[in-house]
Amino acid sequence: MPNEKIPYGKQDISEEDVEAVVEVLRSDRLTTGPKVELFEKGLCDYVGASHAVAVNSGTSALDIAAGALELTPGSEIITTPFTFAASSNCILYNNCKPVFADIDPKTYNIDPAQIRKKITRKTKAIIYVDYAGQPCDIKEIKEIADEHDLSLIEDACHALGAEYGGKRVGSFADMTVFSFHPVKHITTGEGGAVATDDEGLHHKLKLLRNHGIDKAPGERTGYTYDMKMLGRNYRITDFQCALGLSQLKRIEGFLSNRNRIAKIYGEEFGKLKELTVPYVKKGVRHAWHLYTILLDKRISRDRFFECMRGRGIGVNVHYIPIYRFSYYKQFGIRPEGYPVTEDVYSRTVTLPLFPKMGDGDAEMVISAVKGCLGGH
Ligand SMILES: Cc1ncc(COP(=O)(O)O)c(C=O)c1O
Repeated sequence: MPNEKIPYGKQDISEEDVEAVVEVLRSDRLTTGPKVELFEKGLCDYVGASHAVAVNSGTSALDIAAGALELTPGSEIITTPFTFAASSNCILYNNCKPVFADIDPKTYNIDPAQIRKKITRKTKAIIYVDYAGQPCDIKEIKEIADEHDLSLIEDACHALGAEYGGKRVGSFADMTVFSFHPVKHITTGEGGAVATDDEGLHHKLKLLRNHGIDKAPGERTGYTYDMKMLGRNYRITDFQCALGLSQLKRIEGFLSNRNRIAKIYGEEFGKLKELTVPYVKKGVRHAWHLYTILLDKRISRDRFFECMRGRGIGVNVHYIPIYRFSYYKQFGIRPEGYPVTEDVYSRTVTLPLFPKMGDGDAEMVISAVKGCLGGH
């Protein structure tokens, strides 16, 4: 963004991170080498899962997770409309039908009561998204899944390091998906992973990452191999995984800085009647991927947004509800069916939040918010 003094999100790359990547670049193996497995092992240890499959993006991770369920075409998968397009696009990639359930007015996560209303005989899975880094009502969602024999995918692209009931996100659902895009908690440039405790799913995820072929090039001893599923090339490189491993060592520091800035914001913004600050449930550790405020109905979001950008503050909107996109119009989904999503979407603004942010940056954002509200 031109003239942006503070972006809404940004990576933090140390000299050690750079050296870790350079070391791989100087080696013989750039891809499908030892760093991939080491990164997967590091992720498993961190999130408390038995297996992880690292791929080239969070979107690819969602695609193979949905693919590993091997659902009959036309099966319905329930998800939130208040998320990035990838959470729902992965359903379409796998010839299934996305069915949206409205969100909770306080957490902006998918509302379990709304999920119940959307279940039909065709429903086979739920993809729940831990919006902004706050875990969903996982207990309630699991109860629904158990009652109706549904598979669960947790889109934890915002929630690496988040906790629910004292346990890290990573093994609550059948599969948990992470993203390592530069604005996320740790980065590999582009990258993602699926974590699972299920041996069978792990095997399928590995196949789907590599064309459905049963042996990756690095694992072949002879020339034969078989193609067992229709997969793609979603492999991630060794130098990306070297960066991921190095970043993983720093994650707790990243999370505590995010938490510190969120606290500073909360203390200041909590005093302003023109906006609502994020609500954090009891019993969760919020991973603070995003800090979003909700403007009072009388305030023009467009004017506020323009004013903030004018002051060099990288504001954003997370998210435009998926059913509003022109591609999704073919499904005939009416916004009126999602009153909470519509209301939150119309008033939300994402403020800058990233691990490298200092107190001075936070003060600049706070004073810009106050200044931009002042005109109302
Ligand atoms: C909730 C959610 N799911 C999936 C993705 C896709 O991740 P990636 O950008 O790594 O493909 C994102 C990315 O922003 C996301 O926010």
